[in-house]
Amino acid sequence: MRDSGGGTWGLVLAAGQGERAGGGLPKQYRRLAGEAIVARAAAALLHHPKINGVAVVIALGQGDLYRQACAHLPLPDPIEGGAERQDSVRLGLEALAPRQPDRVLIHDAARPFLPGAVIDRLLEILDHGPAALPVLPVVDTLKRVEAGTISATVDRAGLVRAQTPQAFHFATILQGHRDLAGQSLTDDTALAERAGLTVSAVAGDESLFKITRPEDFERAARHLSSGYETRTGTGFDVHRLGAGDHVMLCGVAIPHDQGLLGHSDADVALHALTDALLGAIAAGDVGAHFPPSEAQWRGAASDRFVAHAAGLLRAQGGEIINTDVTLVCERPKIGPHRQAMRARIAGILRISIDRVSVKATTTERLGFTGRAEGIAAQASASVRMPINHD
Ligand code: CTP
Ligand code: MG
Repeated sequence: MRDSGGGTWGLVLAAGQGERAGGGLPKQYRRLAGEAIVARAAAALLHHPKINGVAVVIALGQGDLYRQACAHLPLPDPIEGGAERQDSVRLGLEALAPRQPDRVLIHDAARPFLPGAVIDRLLEILDHGPAALPVLPVVDTLKRVEAGTISATVDRAGLVRAQTPQAFHFATILQGHRDLAGQSLTDDTALAERAGLTVSAVAGDESLFKITRPEDFERAARHLSSGYETRTGTGFDVHRLGAGDHVMLCGVAIPHDQGLLGHSDADVALHALTDALLGAIAAGDVGAHFPPSEAQWRGAASDRFVAHAAGLLRAQGGEIINTDVTLVCERPKIGPHRQAMRARIAGILRISIDRVSVKATTTERLGFTGRAEGIAAQASASVRMPINHD
């Protein structure tokens, strides 16, 4: 995690009981296409290049649920929330205060689909103003109902629907929460308004809807299946074996009587994986992004290449479904290192380990891999990308 004080933090609110959604498990811990709702909300913030860290506020007694949902994400210990959403926010901000963030984005865990473009718009406002929130226009005519009959038509001019994340200069919103603790306000910008701050509106997004009632799970499932398509990429790489005492494979250093030669750390498996990810979004190959002719990549750890490719696809609103890597070599034996390799790749990609496969095969002593002249690797990646309707 890029946390060196200051910076921009995400605060994800997951301390509610989810009563209106019903269905046993609190809504934020239910899964959509294998991923818990709270994990989706946190990951969307975490994967944005301008966000330095994310903390999650959870309800007392839900630590196990939280760990099951978010174990694969690099998050600090969760913060215990309070009785009302506003209490949870205040407690979250107090817990973040020692890190002295400059800015904070306060987000409902119950809004799992957060486009990076909304984060961009919010952060742009914070460059010159204290607070911003995403809004959507009200398109339906609004009526007031009393005892089952319409009592008035409400003028909708100037009315919008507020979403989250709501973005603030950290010290300002923390002070606001301290000053107004105990006053019941529905969201954080209501508090900012009360504190006399200018709150700027930016365009929200329909996909940012909040899961509130049971039928919203169906909407979420529809969103996942209709708004996205599955794509696949493959990658292949070879590095020569030469003098050395270890090989880097899948980001794991394995003692060996030879080493892999190459400009970077020559991690043939991570290069194949990088190409698979880039291939899935038709974004070129590892050589195009990290030219061997550039001195800065000499000896570079190849996890950076993988993280770069994952960042590119996430910047397009995509997510990684699974990856499968096959190493081709007689030696070293991969089996004893397979679990460490899977864990390492899962860590680099920030996906759960059950979505990462590492396999190995020999070529029956045939060919260059059989003669231990080099090691080959192939990889595939399946990714879910938003369908572009342009
Ligand atoms: N939240 C929170 N602490 C509370 C209440 C709510 O962190 N004391 C969070 C919820 O987990 C949710 C977000 O605030 O992510 C928005 O609240 P809401 O949609 O009302 O969720 P719940 O309070 O869980 O649902 P319900 O009101 O139906 O019980
Ligand atoms: Mg609630």
